[in-house]
Amino acid sequence: MLMPQMTRRGMLQFAGAGAAALAVTPLDRLLAQAPAGPFTLPKLPYDYDALEPNIDKETMMIHHDKHHQAYVDNLNKAVAGTDLEKKSIEEILRNIDKAPEKIRQAVINNGGGHANHTLFWEIMGPKGGGMPAGNLAKAIEKDLKGFENFKKDLSQAGITRFGSGWAWLVVGKDGVLNVYSTANQDNPLMKGDTPILGLDVWEHAYYLKYKNVRPKYVEAWWNTINWNNVAARYEKAKK
Ligand SMILES: [Fe+2]
Repeated sequence: MLMPQMTRRGMLQFAGAGAAALAVTPLDRLLAQAPAGPFTLPKLPYDYDALEPNIDKETMMIHHDKHHQAYVDNLNKAVAGTDLEKKSIEEILRNIDKAPEKIRQAVINNGGGHANHTLFWEIMGPKGGGMPAGNLAKAIEKDLKGFENFKKDLSQAGITRFGSGWAWLVVGKDGVLNVYSTANQDNPLMKGDTPILGLDVWEHAYYLKYKNVRPKYVEAWWNTINWNNVAARYEKAKK
């Protein structure tokens, strides 16, 4: 029996003596010998094609397996041999000023990339879309002038972000919801806010299907949102 979060490397080690019975390729051997880093690529919580037609399968494969993996690999390289190896990515980003100056920008870029994408996969889902309910819906009404206004503001934040970046719904230190965008892979944790919903507007997130038409991608992305996950993040951030 395999643990749900077990990595490929872990699976190979776990297989132990039984591995002889499996078809182990040269690539598997290389992966098993690769140095272990503290950060690993989380498994996509649904199939690559689960967000079709809003986000296409090929984009999801490249985005998750190549782009996110690269952020994880480069983060592991950046923190190797430092105290950051023992910390969670949330703790690192919340205290980014304490990261050694020599590696700080690499940690912002790749640690942000790892945290942002981990959130991104989870706040989407195959039965996404619709509207939030409960406390989150009430807070959107109170803090952001209602769902339609919030949707317009977050969409605009993403569409107008120059170059690469993210649009966010965050819970501030005062518990109030806010919407804004950040450049590159900067994460709201770096300024004390807790992100509960994030929209990736890097071209790698949409270019294969939507080409240069970012607004069409943003419009379709709303159909993928797993509001239960966002609401759970809201409740946790409020504690
Ligand atoms: Fe991305």
